[in-house]
Amino acid sequence: MSAAGPGPSPRHFLRDDDLTPAEQSAVLALALRLKAARAAGEAHERPLASAALGPRPVALLFDKPSTRTRLSFTVGVLELGGHPVTVDAATSQVGRGEPVADTARVLERQVAAIVWRTGAQEGLEVMAAHSRVPVVNALTDLLHPCQVLADLLTVAEHRGGVAALPGTVLAYLGDGANNMAHSYLLGGAVAGLHVRVGTPPEHRPDPRVLADAQAVAAATGGSVRVVHRAEEAVEGADVVATDTWVSMGQEAEAGERAAPFAPFAVTEALLAGAAPGAGVLHCLPAYRGREVSAEVLDGPRSWVWDEAENRLHAQKALLVHLLGPA
Ligand code: CP
Ligand code: NVA
Repeated sequence: MSAAGPGPSPRHFLRDDDLTPAEQSAVLALALRLKAARAAGEAHERPLASAALGPRPVALLFDKPSTRTRLSFTVGVLELGGHPVTVDAATSQVGRGEPVADTARVLERQVAAIVWRTGAQEGLEVMAAHSRVPVVNALTDLLHPCQVLADLLTVAEHRGGVAALPGTVLAYLGDGANNMAHSYLLGGAVAGLHVRVGTPPEHRPDPRVLADAQAVAAATGGSVRVVHRAEEAVEGADVVATDTWVSMGQEAEAGERAAPFAPFAVTEALLAGAAPGAGVLHCLPAYRGREVSAEVLDGPRSWVWDEAENRLHAQKALLVHLLGPA
């Protein structure tokens, strides 16, 4: 919570690569410790979190629907000793068009952090530019970095720890131009993963995100590649991820998207080409029979329920990282 007047710049998490490789690794390692401590009881967890929030409030702003993000940030803030304050666009002045900069100036004087789910990444950047408290991306049309942090945590858990992440091959199938594809590219590159995006040619990732991910991967030993055949993306992959073919706001395109995306559906037949023991990720909500078969989503290769739970642990660790001790 800041008073008026200049102060040190806060740490924001607007993009996956706002965390350096060392920071991402430390956040994931803390998340694993927080998860283990939570399972052992609250008394063990408190010293780890260092009372990161104390009694401070955190604003959770939602311009779009949410189940997992809303729940996990609410529970996470409570477990860190803070108070979540949820504001929906439909019932606030943000939704009526109050300038983002003005909203930021009002919020930053009252809360310890601002978590925002919105459409335009540029809007989030304006919020951050006018806030002296950390701003966290809870999903934009461009990126979903909190989700990919939880996904990396899930991969680490299933593959023997954070140190096992570099070199892991992750294939993402589906809409290569959506927020999940972009965050797998950027966040995966930070973690040193080999990320392959399998998508129809007309749904290629944003070239700027791809270029940024390529630059990060060059420094971490990872790689990023876009292919247009699902089998090529999945071949030998350690992790196969997918997401809805129709993101929030694209509902009018649902009909025209079904045919081009159909070859990218994650099925048992497709997974036959993945590495033995490969796991499946989906940020949820899932549409069984479209981007993923029910057999896969509800089967033994599915890591999705761990993935959904890990939103909580990853975001608690992120908040501790951004806010530090109270
Ligand atoms: N995966 C995810 O962000 O879910 P919600 O839309 O329910 O928050
Ligand atoms: N790509 C999806 C993710 C939902 C969590 C969307 O933006 O709707």
